[in-house]
Amino acid sequence: MHYLHVFALSLSASLFAEASLPLVINTWPFQDATAAAWSALQRGESVLDAVETGCATCEREQCDGSVGYGGSPDETGETTLDAMIMNGDSMEVGAVADLRRVKNAISVARAVMEHTTHTLLVGEMGKNVSPDPRTSCGPYKPSVEVKRMDEQNHTRLDVHSHDTIGMVVIGRNRSVAAGTSTNGARHKVPGRVGDSPIAGAGSYADSTVGGAAATGDGDVMMRFLPSFLAVELMRRGIDPASACKAALTRIKTYYPGFFGAVICANIQGEYGAACNRVPGFSQFSYMVSTPLTNNPLLKKVDCF
Ligand code: GLY
Repeated sequence: MHYLHVFALSLSASLFAEASLPLVINTWPFQDATAAAWSALQRGESVLDAVETGCATCEREQCDGSVGYGGSPDETGETTLDAMIMNGDSMEVGAVADLRRVKNAISVARAVMEHTTHTLLVGEMGKNVSPDPRTSCGPYKPSVEVKRMDEQNHTRLDVHSHDTIGMVVIGRNRSVAAGTSTNGARHKVPGRVGDSPIAGAGSYADSTVGGAAATGDGDVMMRFLPSFLAVELMRRGIDPASACKAALTRIKTYYPGFFGAVICANIQGEYGAACNRVPGFSQFSYMVSTPLTNNPLLKKVDCF
């Protein structure tokens, strides 16, 4: 990129948002999660601790029923959780998907990161296919019942199911951590995993640049790694709001009607968000906490 262009972008970025660190930003008006992450930072805990505490708050409180236990049952009526956490200093990631009978998925994700050599662990799979995987090796096909659900294009994620907490925390020392937690799509086929536990899709953190996190229709969004793309665009000097928008524009080219939003923040303390305008979704709410806001601040962005 031409130096003058980078300079112009940086200038517009510095004019764009009041910048201050540390910073907590998360999707949707999940204020208690923001406050919990902010308190963790005030107690001197790490950015990873803040992300874990913030997302765990949402899991405990079942934020809008779209995070944590009991919400978004799959076709068999069971809730499964997806979560990830990323350390932007070391680029380590821990993630879990299809997790059952555990409330704090984000903490399990962190345990995967810190106590295993793996990145993503998943729970039970393979139900609702024929032949029955308990008695046959396959090949498997979706059962008739599952096919019918697909053919009806059953609503699984929409603007009323807020869908995911995605959080980025940037410390005063510019360390970045990001995380997500969700109970996924309603009436999903058992075994379905969305974007939330996928690094670069659900969220991404790089302490040399910043972080991003996504919410929305994970089946579509995970194909484009919007959180990774947004961080890479910020690396080139693009301001957070424009980076979020560009990451969604890539998806919109192929799926104009997808439901989704992205939050972005850089290590200068600038932040922004973007959302794809679809019927019933013209504005996206997110939360921010910085030394300038005092309390968690509700922000809104008009979708494009
Ligand atoms: N964005 C959450 C999901 O699609 O599972």
